[in-house]
Amino acid sequence: MKNTVKLLSFNTFIPIFYPALMLPLKGKRKKAINMLNFNAGDRVLIPGVGTGHDLPSLPKDVVVEGVDISDVMLGIGKLKLKMHGLEKNVRLKKMDAEELFYDDNTFDKAILSLFLTVVFNPKKAFAEVVRVLKPGGQILVYDHLFRRGEIPDSVAKPIDAVLSYGFASVTRTLDDIIEGQPVTIDKVASGDPVGFMKAFILEKNK
Ligand SMILES: C[S@@+](CC[C@H](N)C(=O)[O-])C[C@H]1O[C@@H](n2cnc3c(N)ncnc32)[C@H](O)[C@@H]1O
Repeated sequence: MKNTVKLLSFNTFIPIFYPALMLPLKGKRKKAINMLNFNAGDRVLIPGVGTGHDLPSLPKDVVVEGVDISDVMLGIGKLKLKMHGLEKNVRLKKMDAEELFYDDNTFDKAILSLFLTVVFNPKKAFAEVVRVLKPGGQILVYDHLFRRGEIPDSVAKPIDAVLSYGFASVTRTLDDIIEGQPVTIDKVASGDPVGFMKAFILEKNK
């Protein structure tokens, strides 16, 4: 039930329009990815990897695991791996990011692009990312999230309770999602020319 609309939309019409929707974000998305301090051999997790828009901007000497619940988004992503010659260092898998099949402290980096506003339970998904990240590991959140206080809880929470069942929510705050997790926000940058999208770099506390 919680993922019914997501599966319907991300397996049908969204993949058709997705490339056009993502085009205006290309430059800023690349800049956001460059805010991460990559090291050769880093293991990078991308939950809700979709069609893999982040993949061409990553260094070629890191090892990437991208997971998603949509067969169609993953299928397009796999074609992209071939086009960009990324099959050696990138693996795409069908997996629910709210219940990751990875051990604790596995990854050095995580990239959450337009994911926390889509996943049904962003707190659960974020906690999973933190669990599988090594202490000192970095997380990039590239999304249209608010900060606490920018939108009243009394408005945001009821709207989110309904939109959670749709394909995306527009009232979530980063602070609510990360509350109680051992992470620190290191950097914040604008993620598009109008300031709707933001790029946050967080570190898992050592
Ligand atoms: C808006 S798209 C973003 C795709 C990609 N990260 C990007 O930046 O272009 C959100 C993706 O999250 C996926 N998704 C939603 N809920 C998920 C879940 N519980 N586990 C894994 N993927 C999920 C959707 O299928 C979709 O491909």
